[in-house]
Amino acid sequence: LFAAAALTALAAPAVFAADLEGRVLKIGTDATYPPMETVDESTGQIVGFDVDVMNAICEKVNCVPNFVNTAWDGIFAALQQGEFDLVISGVSITPEREENMDFSEPYIIVSQAILLQVDNADMTLDDFKAGGQKLAAQTGTTNAQLAEELVGRENVSLYDNFSAAILALQNADVQGVIIDGTSASAYEQEFAGELAVGITGLQSDPLGIVFQEGDATVDAINEGLAAIQADGTMDALVAKYWGT
Ligand code: ARG
Repeated sequence: LFAAAALTALAAPAVFAADLEGRVLKIGTDATYPPMETVDESTGQIVGFDVDVMNAICEKVNCVPNFVNTAWDGIFAALQQGEFDLVISGVSITPEREENMDFSEPYIIVSQAILLQVDNADMTLDDFKAGGQKLAAQTGTTNAQLAEELVGRENVSLYDNFSAAILALQNADVQGVIIDGTSASAYEQEFAGELAVGITGLQSDPLGIVFQEGDATVDAINEGLAAIQADGTMDALVAKYWGT
């Protein structure tokens, strides 16, 4: 469902120049997105792959991540207004977003997938295109964009977050949810026997860490990212979450 291996070939810098000198980084994230970022119900902490990645990077380049849970809607506006130092939230690197923000190098590549109810697991894109069946996604995502391209706007239902879209699928308000494959497999596991990844082989997105345009912090974070890719930390995190 995704490919991280190709990214690990990047060479680590021979000399470690980047040092953020213990800087606290305020990090915006929409923690409704397993397994990338969610709120652990027992501790109230934000946890997930993106959190582990940022912690590992900060260990390399000497920063202190401070995660702030925020709605996806407005997350980039808040970043641009300086409310956050960076956003990590399973964000796809796209030409439109690159117009007014800067991205790190990609830290993982995900291919989108469609979750179906197990009982309808043989549905195809044509079934959605034919009308009467709804494909759901989170508003303002690349998934929502692809949904409209694949089955037509009239057959797409948009939700504020993927938790709501998944609930709608469980309630049969919609018949599918299009989502990054990394999260599709997490939901498939969480709701085994109820939901299943039914349609794959869709568009792949590189995910990146997002900064205000012109913020040099991205250079240090890129060095930290290259270091965790070179020393096996990234592979270990991918294995922790997706068991590959
Ligand atoms: N990768 C998709 C995008 O960037 C979806 C990201 C959704 N992230 C989240 N935390 N809800 O548009």
